[in-house]
Amino acid sequence: MAKDGNKSSWKEFIWNPRTREFCGRTASSWGLIFLFYLAFYIFLAGLFCVTIYVMLLTLDDNIPTCQDRLATPGMMIRPTGKDLEIIYTKEDTESWDSHVQALNSFLSAYNDSVQEQNNLDCTPDQYFIQEDSDSVKNNPKRSCRFKRSVLEECSGLVDRYYGYFDGKPCVIIKLNRVIGMLPGKDGPVPSVSCGPKKYKINVDEWGDDSDKMGEVAYFPPNGTFNLMYFPYYGKKAQVNYSQPLVAVKFLNITMNTEVNVECKIIARNILANNDRDKFAGRVSFKLRINSRK
Ligand SMILES: *[C@@H]1O[C@H](CO)[C@@H](O)[C@H](O)[C@H]1NC(C)=O
Ligand SMILES: *[C@@H]1O[C@H](CO)[C@@H](O)[C@H](O)[C@H]1NC(C)=O
Ligand SMILES: *[C@@H]1O[C@H](CO)[C@@H](O)[C@H](O)[C@H]1NC(C)=O
Ligand SMILES: *[C@@H]1O[C@H](CO)[C@@H](O)[C@H](O)[C@H]1NC(C)=O
Repeated sequence: MAKDGNKSSWKEFIWNPRTREFCGRTASSWGLIFLFYLAFYIFLAGLFCVTIYVMLLTLDDNIPTCQDRLATPGMMIRPTGKDLEIIYTKEDTESWDSHVQALNSFLSAYNDSVQEQNNLDCTPDQYFIQEDSDSVKNNPKRSCRFKRSVLEECSGLVDRYYGYFDGKPCVIIKLNRVIGMLPGKDGPVPSVSCGPKKYKINVDEWGDDSDKMGEVAYFPPNGTFNLMYFPYYGKKAQVNYSQPLVAVKFLNITMNTEVNVECKIIARNILANNDRDKFAGRVSFKLRINSRK
């Protein structure tokens, strides 16, 4: 009996013919609930769209809104070798040919003819400022010429093997692009300086290869980055931008041994000794030039 009563009260809960209620509510009650949720979700969707729209309005097409992590630009070398290790045998053309090819293709964008066609002959030693006037964008922005001939002996023009042939290799250093960066502001002109990298021999003993690195030559002279290549306004605004380069030529490096080199940017407003990021404002690499003689 009790069982039957239970069953019928369940049935009545689902559909009660007396009160015409479905699951305890009348049709108009259900309708109202449905309408309420419909309005509620439309409102939520609208709110979402408005929020996204307002956020997009605040974004600039040309400048990333958050780039604080890039306050210190990274540095890279060309050729990169394998894991930043440039190893070859002087007399073995095949062992350095890939490095020469890498430099050829990297530098082809810097061909004098290409640069003359794309970029401006700017006034050196001053920033090339092209600000927007209020809301009117001054786009596209022009860029300054960086001709590979500036790299002289490391340009691949005078010596098409970049010194790899006679054991005096060139390594090209590039500073990664950071929008709006003005390196060397209120200080000396930014430049690259390479030296032996300190490394740990054991617990509290450090060593370096200063006796093996030998003299280096920088191109352009003193390894400077001319101020006219800054600031950079971003890929969209400054389409033909060519990063300035510095080439380092190792003139008297010791053969048949590993030499650990570190190149840093010297600029008052760029810190190159961040312990956490080993590519911030500096780059280290290994050179080993073998010679059968
Ligand atoms: C750049 O110059 C080199 C050497 O003069 C030449 O071999 C190469 O084809 C040129 N590349 C471009 C893209 O003009
Ligand atoms: C970029 O280079 C192209 C090809 O030479 C040129 O037509 C164009 O005017 C240049 N644009 C800017 C903004 O320098
Ligand atoms: C290189 O630096 C030296 C010493 O700081 C300076 O006398 C010389 O004029 C610089 N050369 C160039 C081309 O900037
Ligand atoms: C090259 O370096 C060696 C030591 O590694 C040194 O004895 C020699 O004088 C250097 N040569 C030149 C031209 O600097």
